[in-house]
Amino acid sequence: MKLIRVKDYEELSRKAAEIVINQIKLKPNSTIGFATGKTPLGLYKNLVNAYKKKKIDFSKIKAFSLDEFYPIKRTSKKSYSYYLFSKLFNKINVKKENINLLNGEAKNFKKECKEYEEKIRKNPIDLQILGIGENGHIGFNEPGSDFNSKTRLVELTHIRGKGLTIGISTIMKSKKIILLASGRKKAKAILSLIKGKIDKNCPASFLRKHKNFIVIIDEKAGSSL
Ligand code: GLP
Repeated sequence: MKLIRVKDYEELSRKAAEIVINQIKLKPNSTIGFATGKTPLGLYKNLVNAYKKKKIDFSKIKAFSLDEFYPIKRTSKKSYSYYLFSKLFNKINVKKENINLLNGEAKNFKKECKEYEEKIRKNPIDLQILGIGENGHIGFNEPGSDFNSKTRLVELTHIRGKGLTIGISTIMKSKKIILLASGRKKAKAILSLIKGKIDKNCPASFLRKHKNFIVIIDEKAGSSL
């Protein structure tokens, strides 16, 4: 694990964008796993700006999402699909046919999860972007999630409802992982991730077993270390 400590959210977003841009420059047809939530919004703004300034070309990348509510309409403003299109995909030149999202409208969720897992197996993720929940969750892998978990339907504890998420083992297969955390609310989760036991109580702690795992935190997120 490599820990990068920065001052604030702005610097965190810049640093993360640098990593994503370098990845795409080194390998233009990279497969990138995109997270949702508030944390990567600054990163996505930087990516859109870099694209506008013609510093980066997304035309060859393949994109995968990490999770989605279930069931949910793609067009619902609460869906992660809507989030990814409105915050990023509509503003860059990623090709529609290269965008792969967990489908919250799927009738048969088991089939959807199996096919999605298979799609990722065929298009290994070069760089997975992650946030972290206050309880240490990654994607929708809540505490209790198994190290060997795959793409599946889960009960969400932090809100009422269900979600689809790629599993811990799916995430672990990514060649490189960056996890971003900003703000005091994340300080406890960051402490468990970095210094706690590697176990199910903090699903993010499993990532310490990954060979190419980068954590970027700002001062507030690192305040309990
Ligand atoms: C949600 C998402 C996660 C995200 C987390 C943190 O549960 N499923 O993918 O990382 O929340 O969100 P935020 O960045 O808004 O704190």
